[in-house]
Amino acid sequence: MPETIQIQNHHTEISDKVDRLSIIDSLFLLTERFPEQVIFSTSFSYEDQVITDLILTNNIPVSIFTLDTGRLFAETYSVWNSTNEKYATKIKAFYPDNSLLEVYINDKGPNAFYESIDNRKDCCFIRKVEPLKRALAGNAVWITGLRAEHSPERKDLHLTEWDDNNKIIKYNPLLHWNNEEVKEYINKNNVPYNILHDKGFVSIGCAPCTRAIKPGEDFRAGRWWWENAENKECGLHVHN
Ligand code: ADX
Ligand code: SF4
Repeated sequence: MPETIQIQNHHTEISDKVDRLSIIDSLFLLTERFPEQVIFSTSFSYEDQVITDLILTNNIPVSIFTLDTGRLFAETYSVWNSTNEKYATKIKAFYPDNSLLEVYINDKGPNAFYESIDNRKDCCFIRKVEPLKRALAGNAVWITGLRAEHSPERKDLHLTEWDDNNKIIKYNPLLHWNNEEVKEYINKNNVPYNILHDKGFVSIGCAPCTRAIKPGEDFRAGRWWWENAENKECGLHVHN
């Protein structure tokens, strides 16, 4: 049986168990079932830092990577560095393909994402989606920091999902946590965090495409704020 079908079959069985287990037990279950094939993507957001802390303080054999788009905030590189230091680890980076990026920038210019949705999606594809595909290749489980509170599209997600686009099981351990629970965990456990969160930034992506939000605005209002709400996904998370 091809490996993808085997992984997909496991999903049905695993999903019931994960619904009943704690996060730590779920992570151990997944890493025992799929040794060296469980991977976590971090953007160093509040929620991602909680997951990193859970993985590294419990010595769970999950590899952790980030997609360095080349356009991240200086503060994001700082929290990446302090995370490496605190946990004596090296979070692995995946980078955009040089040749794709050169063609795009030389044709369109460095800030073309403000000019059209197509340009913006092309930039996200080159800087995030294509490197993500390389990062996920050969793995069985992809852990993310997606939360239901983030947006209406994320409200109906499940703790585990079959991601048909990437042919991988997706596990969203903090799906049902609220903002307060995330903050409380960070403070209580002294976890390094992006200081932009103290300056009105909630959802943090690339610097030119993220702004702080005003009181009462939606969680993702500060992402690609010049576009309509329904376009606000970059292609990393495709809902089946
Ligand atoms: S995005 O689709 O809008 O960019 P968002 O910032 O909400 O995603 O983050 C949701 C989850 O996607 C994060 O918890 C993380 O697992 C993953 N993610 C987002 N950006 C990155 C990144 N640059 N590197 C690695 N993972 C990321
Ligand atoms: Fe490019 Fe902005 Fe997407 Fe980052 S968020 S990859 S800078 S369009």
